[in-house]
Amino acid sequence: MKNKTELATKFAHLGRPPAGLGTSVSHPVTRASTLLFEKAEDLYRNDIRGYGRHGTAVHDALAELFTELEGGVGALLYPSGVAALTGPILSIVKPGDHILLTDSAYGPTRSFCQTFLKRMNIETTFYNPRVGAGIAELIKENTSLILLESPGSLTFEIQDIPAIAQAAKARGITTLIDNTWSAGITLSPLPMGINISIHAATKYFGGHSDVMYGAAVFADRARYKKAQQTAKQLGNASSPDDAYQILRGFRSVLPRFRQQEATALALAKWLMTRDEVQQVLHPAVTDHPDHELWKRDFTGSGCLFSVVLQPLTDADVLKFIDNLNLFGIGYSYGGFESLAIHCDPQLRRNCAAPLRGPLVRFACGLEAMSDLKSDIEQSLATVF
Ligand SMILES: Cc1ncc(COP(=O)(O)O)c(C=O)c1O
Repeated sequence: MKNKTELATKFAHLGRPPAGLGTSVSHPVTRASTLLFEKAEDLYRNDIRGYGRHGTAVHDALAELFTELEGGVGALLYPSGVAALTGPILSIVKPGDHILLTDSAYGPTRSFCQTFLKRMNIETTFYNPRVGAGIAELIKENTSLILLESPGSLTFEIQDIPAIAQAAKARGITTLIDNTWSAGITLSPLPMGINISIHAATKYFGGHSDVMYGAAVFADRARYKKAQQTAKQLGNASSPDDAYQILRGFRSVLPRFRQQEATALALAKWLMTRDEVQQVLHPAVTDHPDHELWKRDFTGSGCLFSVVLQPLTDADVLKFIDNLNLFGIGYSYGGFESLAIHCDPQLRRNCAAPLRGPLVRFACGLEAMSDLKSDIEQSLATVF
């Protein structure tokens, strides 16, 4: 499909079987471990799929959509967002390496680096997400990878992606970004010089909180091929049923995303006016410290943001969450239902400033904004 085509059109038309006499609109799900061949000589061919772990037509269609979404050369699919992070990371690092990870990263990424990679004799330095071009000073002789996440999980710092990508490229270092928050809809990191963009497709693409999935999109063939080999060696196959669910979610992700994005921004702006709230951590609100950077690099936002409430006892923070009626208490985001969690990112030593009050993260679903607003209002009234 031509480059100029809008995302909405791509999401509706790409990854579909050719029309025939009564063919289905979408690829049918094929379940298989063994694939059969007519001739023994075909068993060891490299140009055809040989085994169920190598995917199906549905997987190919989904990879095509992720590739187009990010403008990459290819996409690999994984059984979860975490696998889409760890698989590509393992394709790059080797024992004795040093890597740089933003201190605002998703918790399991942090723990993978601190435990699994440490056991492989790979050293991790946590850097301030606002380091920008200063990342160059943290690069060592043996630095092989810089991991980014923008905005940061829980605390929503925006990173200077082009500056970090440029510093990495000058030293031949690979850059990988967790692009889950924007769904690739409001941020395109590959044209900014990032090598690999990953998605926890569990969120917006699944969209219904009932399937786990991940994808990694690559800007160049060499890294794609290496990660593909690693994925095969690690057995990172995903179920065709799960792949189908994500492909189905892709078809409607844009209007869902837009509604959730609008709801989150409206709630964030309203919460800024509330006395019970000290700070709203949403990069699209004007008093966010990285608002200008967000405006420069993003075309929109997402469904997820946090607030720092005025000081409350721990018990009252829990009470505030418990008293919400429309926000489920649970992890994740991008589903049709809203969620809220309390969180403590204070273990991050390298972020800008410690928070001055309790942090609550909201994930906005598809409910009416006015109802979500009333729900938060009534719950705030029970603790303040
Ligand atoms: C930013 C981010 N990256 C990755 C993941 C991991 O995705 P999954 O739950 O599909 O493993 C999550 C899940 O919450 C996430 O929020």
